Amino acid sequence: MEKKVSKIGVLTSGGDAPGMNAAIRAVVRTGLYYGLDVFGIMRGYAGMIENDIFKMETRSVANIIQRGGTILKTARCKEFFEPAGRKKAYENLKKLGINGLVIIGGDGSFRGAQIFSNEYDIPCIGLPGTIDKDIAGTDFTIGFDTAVNTAVEAIDKIRDTADAHDRLFIIEVMGRDSGYIALHSGIATGAENILIPERITDINEVIDSLQEKEKRKKLVNLLVVAEGSELGGANEIAKVLKEKMPNADIKVCILGHIQRGGSPSCLDRLIASRMGYAAVECLMTGKDVNTMIGIVNNQLHYTPLDQAVKAEQTIDYEWLKIVKILAS
Ligand code: F6P
Repeated sequence: MEKKVSKIGVLTSGGDAPGMNAAIRAVVRTGLYYGLDVFGIMRGYAGMIENDIFKMETRSVANIIQRGGTILKTARCKEFFEPAGRKKAYENLKKLGINGLVIIGGDGSFRGAQIFSNEYDIPCIGLPGTIDKDIAGTDFTIGFDTAVNTAVEAIDKIRDTADAHDRLFIIEVMGRDSGYIALHSGIATGAENILIPERITDINEVIDSLQEKEKRKKLVNLLVVAEGSELGGANEIAKVLKEKMPNADIKVCILGHIQRGGSPSCLDRLIASRMGYAAVECLMTGKDVNTMIGIVNNQLHYTPLDQAVKAEQTIDYEWLKIVKILAS
């Protein structure tokens, strides 16, 4: 088979996500299997601009499939969104002969890749790596399953203490612009209500429902709130509820960055491995380049980067109805 690339670079960009290491491993090992040179680029686009790039061997990715974080480190790089920054990055890649790139990250990282691949003759493949799952064209993003399971484990523990004290807990999970972690972890832990950025929640409805439950002596209640909920984070919501329900024993728990760390779940390792392998296949054959590789209905799915950066993953609002019915 005629190879369209000979030297490829791989980087992780944006917020880290468990499973990024498994994706890096898959890219490196598949690339080496096909006789390509594979380069690791440190700290995302920043390393491309600063020429922080090194050649990777099969042992470079030994013992990382089970590790959270990213061995290549990650960053959000404003300079790459300036033409001068991208030019510098391109010149560094050219000097090393790198003629294909794999970018593991979220929508901001794909926007960078899309602009770069339109400007320069270096094909790019995006792999969706974010705990937020806020990317269209894939059923899963690398890291989401692990993050949501971390949240579920923590919320289960909170439920124990909430039950012992008859308390209302407001639990904040990650998701500045996305409610997926809240929605999935909230349903899986039997939350009373779930507040997300994508949907306007009437706080009076939340209060009415809690007060009605108070009358029925249902005193253990969990509210799961995405950090970017349209009513604010857990602290803001607690303030309002404490005013309106002075007798309720209300506590706040913010789960924070623990959701970004830890050993990736089997699902995250699996999708990362499949996507990483497919990324190299695309670069090698020249087919489906400048796409984001997702998994839809358990099949690899290729979305052109131009579309991937525009399309929005849409929440199924019926899930919120399920929450209400099941929390009665
Ligand atoms: O990676 C996505 C995410 O975890 C969001 O859910 C969150 O709002 C954001 O990153 C936090 O980013 P930082 O680590 O910069 O605080």
